[in-house]
Amino acid sequence: MAQRVRKAVLPVAGLGTRFLPATKIIPKEMIPVVDKPVVQYAIEEARAAGIEEFIFVSAEGKESIAAHFSGHAVLEKSLESKNKAAELKLVRDASLPPGAFKVVIQHNPLGLGHAVWCAKELVGREPFAVILPDDMVLSKTSCMKQLIDAHAEVGGHVVAVENVAREHTSRYGILNVASDDGRLAKALGLVEKPQPDKAPSTLAIIGRYVLDPSVFDELDKHTRGAGNEIQLTDALNNTMPRVAFHGLRFEGIRYDCGTRVGFVEANVAFALANPELAPRLRPLLERLMGR
Ligand code: UTP
Repeated sequence: MAQRVRKAVLPVAGLGTRFLPATKIIPKEMIPVVDKPVVQYAIEEARAAGIEEFIFVSAEGKESIAAHFSGHAVLEKSLESKNKAAELKLVRDASLPPGAFKVVIQHNPLGLGHAVWCAKELVGREPFAVILPDDMVLSKTSCMKQLIDAHAEVGGHVVAVENVAREHTSRYGILNVASDDGRLAKALGLVEKPQPDKAPSTLAIIGRYVLDPSVFDELDKHTRGAGNEIQLTDALNNTMPRVAFHGLRFEGIRYDCGTRVGFVEANVAFALANPELAPRLRPLLERLMGR
């Protein structure tokens, strides 16, 4: 039986250059999709999966991320005195219990592998989740819960995967598949951004992982890979074949909020999934499309 996953690492130290000038002052993860910062969706998904401790790998100037998940006494008092119970609940629901989150600063953006390595001491020797908030998943069951349930079955590393068009493989980490039961694909490893004719499959990983702590032994070596960055993909590959590695085809739809078009798409999709907003939005969208 695999050890329970209690901790999640959220790498949020990136510069968000694709969203400049919006991200000049506001962290990319704090930009709202509909009415909540992108990073809050990630936290809610993880909490729905039973995660109890959150480790933000952040950067100088991005203090508002941690502030968003802390209490806000002045605002709460003011809402209380005005009997704004619904608004007060929104504010309180966005806070994490004291001690439930920690922040570690990645002083130089040396890559995703390095960002995860920064959380090593806080994670310790237990399996842990990694969530890239840029990837948002709209699903009935929390995507992270689906991964943790799969991890309880097979252990090792379990990553969320989805099928992509072959012409798009060069945008993703692609699974090299050993065997596949239609839900879980047992992997030999990952190939980072392969050209379509070199891609070993069309199963692409998205920003959701449950990882065996042995990945830290590889990250400890600080080996530079593509783009002179410390790549998580390389470290995962180097744990093979000691650690089982599976890709899970999750139930749900992923939106890539790291791109401008994906971000707009996510806003529309999440608004259409909201029963209060959908009936008002649908005719507006139809009108826009008719123009
Ligand atoms: P991205 O490649 O999307 O980079 O990182 P970015 O800086 O956030 O955005 P752009 O490309 O400049 O617009 C993927 C994820 O990995 C984190 C980012 O914060 C994001 O969640 N990351 C990346 C780090 O935390 N540290 C790094 O050194 C690199």
